[in-house]
Amino acid sequence: MFNLNALVRTNIRTLKPYSSARDEFKGEANIFLDANENSLGSPLVKWYNRYPDPLQLKVKEKIAFIKKIPVDQIFLGNGSDEAIDLLYRCFCEPGIDEVVIFPPTYGMYEVSANINNVKLNRVPLTEQFQLDLEALEQAIKPSTKIIWICSPNNPTGNSIDKEAIEMILNNFDGLVVIDEAYINFSRQKSWLSDLQDYPNLVVLQTLSKAWGLAGIRLGMAFASSEIIGYLNKVKPPYNISEPVQELAIKALDEIGQVNDMIVILVNERQNLVTSLLQQKEVLKIYPSDANFLLVKFKDALGLYKYFVDQGIVVRDRSNVLLCEGCLRITVGTPQENSKLLESLNSFNQ
Ligand SMILES: Cc1ncc(COP(=O)(O)O)c(C=O)c1O
Repeated sequence: MFNLNALVRTNIRTLKPYSSARDEFKGEANIFLDANENSLGSPLVKWYNRYPDPLQLKVKEKIAFIKKIPVDQIFLGNGSDEAIDLLYRCFCEPGIDEVVIFPPTYGMYEVSANINNVKLNRVPLTEQFQLDLEALEQAIKPSTKIIWICSPNNPTGNSIDKEAIEMILNNFDGLVVIDEAYINFSRQKSWLSDLQDYPNLVVLQTLSKAWGLAGIRLGMAFASSEIIGYLNKVKPPYNISEPVQELAIKALDEIGQVNDMIVILVNERQNLVTSLLQQKEVLKIYPSDANFLLVKFKDALGLYKYFVDQGIVVRDRSNVLLCEGCLRITVGTPQENSKLLESLNSFNQ
């Protein structure tokens, strides 16, 4: 049986969180002398002298409308990376608790585990880049608190089968985090609509990919209001700056433009696949539900270096488990993709 109170670290359950000036005063006022800000304002930009809304209500209202998830089930972080770290800090007792990841996958689950001194159990994906449920069963212990699933997965690009995830959600009493950073490029449905069915489900999304805003650092976690409450308790009081909140509010009004961008990038992904398949250096292109392709080359390392000499940087994954000989290539603009193909054409000539 899932029991959130038993899952959360004792010190976090009993933590009295920082109460900021902006938390304590809720109402209308003209004169703010409660937060030791500079009342004159900066000579550079007068309007950023105040601390931002600690719980980013206006941003969350926009997200709630778009995603059809209540405001109290949304956490906003300085990138999803902040949510990943906070999940460790809220739910994993350093030196005691454990988590499971399915490599090859996004690197921060491991780095954050190491930072928080939490033991990591690796259950490699199958050759088809799907979950190995038998191996997972062996890896789960009473101290396993979180299972990290990335779907679509980075760096393989594929989505993880729904039935396997359902099996885990139904049988694991810890948290199941599904990182949907690339969901907008996928044909698969988001797990957001399943939140009410699974008290142990946490869904991560981000403005860094489809929304085109990696520079502002805004990540989202969606879960039960109780889980979100713990993340809010532990986060730094003002973790999302005022300019970021303002930009996010503007961006979230432009969902039409974002959908247009997604169409362009997904088309461009297909064009890139078609062109790459004609290249003799290419051995295999893995199916992608994301804005990147995992491609196996005859000489991945040689090609990587050649691209760098041409001013093109791709991600060398040739030493990563199950990705031997592979480069991960982000879908660029049509011009960037042409340059990449031109460069590939001239390799070994
Ligand atoms: C699977 C996955 N999750 C999360 C992130 C990081 O997202 P953010 O920019 O919101 O921290 C990345 C970035 O590459 C990613 O690939």
